[in-house]
Amino acid sequence: MRHLMNPLDFTVEELDELMNLAHDIQENPEKYAHTCDGKKLATLFYEPSTRTRLSFEAAMMNLGGKCLGFASADSSSASKGESVADTIRVISCYADIAAMRHPKEGAPLVASEFSKIPVINAGDGGHQHPTQTLADLYTIRMLNGSFDNITIGLCGDLKFGRTVHSLIEALARYKNVKFILISPKELRVPTYIREDVLKKNNLPYEEVESLEEAMPGLDILYMTRIQKERFFNEEEYLKMKGYYILDKQKMELAKEHMYVLHPLPRVNEISVDVDEDPRAMYFEQAHNAVYMREALILTLLGLVPEK
Ligand code: NCD
Repeated sequence: MRHLMNPLDFTVEELDELMNLAHDIQENPEKYAHTCDGKKLATLFYEPSTRTRLSFEAAMMNLGGKCLGFASADSSSASKGESVADTIRVISCYADIAAMRHPKEGAPLVASEFSKIPVINAGDGGHQHPTQTLADLYTIRMLNGSFDNITIGLCGDLKFGRTVHSLIEALARYKNVKFILISPKELRVPTYIREDVLKKNNLPYEEVESLEEAMPGLDILYMTRIQKERFFNEEEYLKMKGYYILDKQKMELAKEHMYVLHPLPRVNEISVDVDEDPRAMYFEQAHNAVYMREALILTLLGLVPEK
């Protein structure tokens, strides 16, 4: 039995296969419409979510399966003090696969150790968000053809933004990817990303503060929200909010084919006037996430149809 905690749980070849499967699902949805008949997905969400939870549910329904779960810790037995280990032992009797989001780093990993069904990390604190990375990779491959030789700018809250951590780890395995890390000093990437991922693998990277100066050299700009819920106090958050706002004027500094991604939700870091720019790809990215989650569910359940 296999779980997904971190994008590195899949090899580069396996990720390629997953993306090819997602593409086939996107092109031929009817071929997959009954692949999960009789199967159930449990969505265990101890933290707010719109896209991740609903796109997991949509993915399972597109495959013919059914969904059950909870959307907040308050509505689960966590509010009575139940441990994640006990919850997953019980859910294992009700469902065939589970997606878990939790405010504590490592909670889905603990769940996977006690689970009888595959567990997917749907975001653990400020740590990792591997299924967002699957959607990001699929979108980048679609736009760029490959991952080799790209310069990607990651901008905003690189400290608490789990999507950034997962994406850097995943992209670190491709050839000649250059990372421009754009953030205020206070919100730089955690030490383990700088030391154990970027430096250890000799990856070219720069840590800068100015989005304007970085723009002209980028092939992909990955914008992120300042992660309000992970700040210790409101004052610190307010200082950072509004630090970066991508608008039409700044888009003029970018290459003709520099695409803008964002895991969403957006607060104010991308002005709505950028939405009509053909290089704004964040809503396509959210759409792509459904196909990648379908591919992941089929793979973890061992239900990928024979070619
Ligand atoms: C992200 C998350 O939950 O980390 N959202 C998502 O799942 N698409 C990004 C965020 O909340 O800023």
